[in-house]
Amino acid sequence: MKVKEIMGRDEWLARLPGRDKKLYAMYSSVTDCIVTDPSLMLVPVDDHMVHRGDGVFESFKCMDGRIYNLDAHLERLGRSCAQLGIELPVPLDEMADIVVQTVRAGGERNALVRLLLSRGPGTMGINPYACHRPELYIVVYELPQVGMAGLPEGVSVALSRIPVKSGLFATVKTCNYLPNVLMKKEAVDLGVDFTVSLDEHRNLAEGATENIGIVTLGKELFMPPPDRVLAGTTAKRALHFAQQLKRDRQLTSAEYRPISMGMARSAAEIHIYGTTPNITPVTVFDGKPVGKGVPGPIATALFDMLKAEMVPDSTRLTKVF
Ligand SMILES: Cc1ncc(COP(=O)(O)O)c(C=O)c1O
Repeated sequence: MKVKEIMGRDEWLARLPGRDKKLYAMYSSVTDCIVTDPSLMLVPVDDHMVHRGDGVFESFKCMDGRIYNLDAHLERLGRSCAQLGIELPVPLDEMADIVVQTVRAGGERNALVRLLLSRGPGTMGINPYACHRPELYIVVYELPQVGMAGLPEGVSVALSRIPVKSGLFATVKTCNYLPNVLMKKEAVDLGVDFTVSLDEHRNLAEGATENIGIVTLGKELFMPPPDRVLAGTTAKRALHFAQQLKRDRQLTSAEYRPISMGMARSAAEIHIYGTTPNITPVTVFDGKPVGKGVPGPIATALFDMLKAEMVPDSTRLTKVF
């Protein structure tokens, strides 16, 4: 076997492979600066986030030079940190400014942003108090589907067999996403678009990185209560839009309520909500068609209202370019 060389810093850096150019920019509080060379987008190996999953994160998108719903994501990040006892390295308004600068440095008007806030480096052990200080990493990368031209085609959902997360782990956006990763693997293996977990009462919980909701035959819109699943920013917007549909008598109610399998199986519509899927109608649930097997009118109406919030002068957008 070839003897491995022991290298100095410069030789090591020179050997780093060229990385995926779909990573546009990264800010790291370790150096307090931004890099655009993907081979330098690194995290210290003794950061608790790397070897213990000890951190929180947010994902949001920049469309046509504007970030959607940044405040809601930063607010949730603040809550996640508070719940895990991780101090914010900088106030949220300063963090928003660093996000804007990093997206701008990436030079792409359409991008996804992954903001990671870790307990920090300092130990390979388990004790969080041995970490020096929390670190912030902001990575700007490719947005797979640009824009919101029209309602996405109907997707298929199967039931997950991965044990559902409970308590703190379900409601805080931690970097412990192994169950979520396995749910995505499960969906790919099953040949469906998403799998959705069931909670201990066999009520619908959520997808790997998305929320779910149903519209009953009586025109009621229900979503699982956010004390059992991650409080999705998109689901929250959808529920807000649904109040308007209620006033217009297209819905009779719109609220968080546990959804049993019986309710899901007899639903007129089922929706997926999330930063990447936006509002996506489910047309196949657990192997059977949902309603008439085509996207329903409530999904269309909610999608249109979400889209209307993403136009340039919307107050939900933060200008980058
Ligand atoms: C577990 C989980 N549920 C739901 C969501 C949807 O949240 P949002 O609409 O804020 O993207 C996410 C987002 O990544 C998630 O990770």
